This record gives sequence, structure tokens and C-alpha cells, in this order.
Amino acid sequence: MRNDPLPRLDTDTGMRARLRPYCRLAAGEVWTDHAAGHRVACLDAAAAASVETMMGGEVAHLAIQDPPYNLAAFGQKRPDEFIEWCTKWVANTSRALASDASLYVWLGADQNNGFQPLPDFMIMMRGFPEFAARSFITMRNQRGYGTQANWMAVRQELLYYTKGAPEFEVQYTDIPKLVRGYYKDVEGVRTENLERSRSENIRAGNVWVDIQQVFYRMEENVSGCYAQKPLRAIERIVRASSRPDDLVVDFFAHSGTTLLACERLGRRCYTADIDPVYCEITIRRLERSRALGRTGWQNGNPFEVELAREAAIVNTPEAGVTAQTSLF
Ligand SMILES: C[S@@+](CC[C@H](N)C(=O)[O-])C[C@H]1O[C@@H](n2cnc3c(N)ncnc32)[C@H](O)[C@@H]1O
Repeated sequence: MRNDPLPRLDTDTGMRARLRPYCRLAAGEVWTDHAAGHRVACLDAAAAASVETMMGGEVAHLAIQDPPYNLAAFGQKRPDEFIEWCTKWVANTSRALASDASLYVWLGADQNNGFQPLPDFMIMMRGFPEFAARSFITMRNQRGYGTQANWMAVRQELLYYTKGAPEFEVQYTDIPKLVRGYYKDVEGVRTENLERSRSENIRAGNVWVDIQQVFYRMEENVSGCYAQKPLRAIERIVRASSRPDDLVVDFFAHSGTTLLACERLGRRCYTADIDPVYCEITIRRLERSRALGRTGWQNGNPFEVELAREAAIVNTPEAGVTAQTSLF
């Protein structure tokens, strides 16, 4: 079994520089997928003109935004600077959305630093009257951080806003309903809660405990990506708040989870990242899914062919002799 991981790309600037020549996109460029109509753009989510170029005059019905959370590990700004930056990409998101649309925002709350940026972000959002606050979802992470002197931090926050009156479709978990005994008289007949329900499984509420956080042994793992969201979580959002053929946007692509979820569920996705390396990973993840039906690179990585070729050149006495390997 191969085991060929990439280092964490956010902290390994040397590796990011090494991968740049293998990236299709440079800053300001947009890749268009002719098979399903997706787009991947290399842009700054806060730059209005770049976002407009990517949108090309279209509007989306759903935005799933997962910005860096302003935690120390991910290059921290002052909380007020972070929020000012957020107002720019939220304004760009608002312009990119149809009059009836949904916005989901993943965020963190640093318990070692005044819980920023979550409460600051929530208050900032009140300055966008077109967005109504609808839900505050918590997804439980299986791994956490903390000390012996505090509760371990295992939560991942997800805010749900709506613009206008978009549709919402109730989602169900895989957890069977075990609790019986909620009886009610319906049209004179005494019914138990299981009989009244549309599903034998528990409905997804605003606390998600049934989704596994991505880790290196999972098929969907994209090594090198440090902040990948579980495909099941993104698919739940896409199913709840969009319809087939709708356009979905995500300005912080990273490992390309939203694009892949949209491809699998028959939606179009316009997604972007400021870093060409993550744009390339996003495109390759889509291509790999189409070619092999795989959702990630367990025991490999998105640049394994190029890195193996580089290693072969280094290890070959006659320069220029390279090992030919399949792209996937
Ligand atoms: C938390 S990750 C997103 C994870 C993603 N949801 C996934 O499942 O892989 C945030 C991403 O935002 C990108 N980013 C940071 N600043 C940005 C900006 N100004 N514009 C666009 N992307 C940015 C980073 O390069 C990083 O890949």
C-alpha cells in the first residue's frame, strides 16, 4: 500500500512554491468545465470586480462560504480587520445571489481569544438587512483541541442566512428513531410519533453529531489540505437549500468539497480560491472523481505524478530520463 502524503500546504511555503508550475490557473484566471458548466477561479473573494468576472452576470441560489477563521494557526488578523475583510466578501456574496437564496457560513470561535470571530461576525451580519438569520448549526468534530484544564473544543460552527424566501428541504440523518412514546390524537385516532413521521430516521437539526470529520484514513481525504469539510456535510446543505441545476457558489474552495458535492448532486458550482495551488487541487479532485469515482486521495496526493517524476529525475543518473506514470 502506498502512503504518499503532502505536508500541510498552508505552513509549507516551499512545497507550495514547488507545486505552482503544475497549476493551470494564475491570479485572475477562470477555468470553465465544459462537461457540467462548473467554474473555478483564482481570485480574492474580497475583490468585487474579480467575483463579478467569475459570475459573468449570473446569480446563484446558494452560497456556502468557508473563510479562514482568523485563528492563530491560519495567519491571524486583528478581529476588527478580519471583520472588515468579511464585510467585503459578504457584500460580494450578496451581489452574486438571486433574490431568493441561501447563505451558509462556516466559522470558528476561539475560546482562548474572546471567542472571536464568531460573535463579531454575527453582529456584522446585522448590517446586511437582506440576509435574515435562520439557524446556528453546530457540527461536532471527533478530534479537538484544549488542555486538561478546560473542556475540549470539538465544535464547528455553521451559520445559515436567507435572502428573500428560498426553499428549504428537510434532511434526515442515518440515525434510526429509537425513542417511542410521543402519542397524539390525529383525527380521533391515537398515533405514535413513528407513525406520524415522514421518516424512520431522525431529522437533521441544528446540532450535527452524525458526520465524521475528515481524517487521513478516509477515502475523501485530500492530503495537504488542512481545513477540508466533510462531503456529507456539504451535500446536506446542497440538498436542503438548492434544487438540481441550480447554481451554487463557494469563494473559498481549498480542497474543492463544494464543487464535488455539486457535481455529485447535479448542481453547477462556481468556486474560487486566492491560491492557485488550491484551485488546481479543486480541479483535479473533480477530474479524479469523474475518471475513477474517487472522492479524494487516500494514500496519495493530488500532485503525486509530478512529485514522483521530480524524484525520478533526481534519482536518475542521466538527467531528463523520467518515469512515465498515469495521471491518476
Ligand atoms: C477553510 S478553507 C476552505 C475549506 C473548504 N470548505 C474545503 O472543504 O476544502 C479556506 C480557504 O480560503 C482560501 N482563502 C483565503 N483568503 C482568501 C481570499 N481572500 N479569497 C479567496 N480565497 C481565500 C484559502 O487559501 C483556503 O484554501
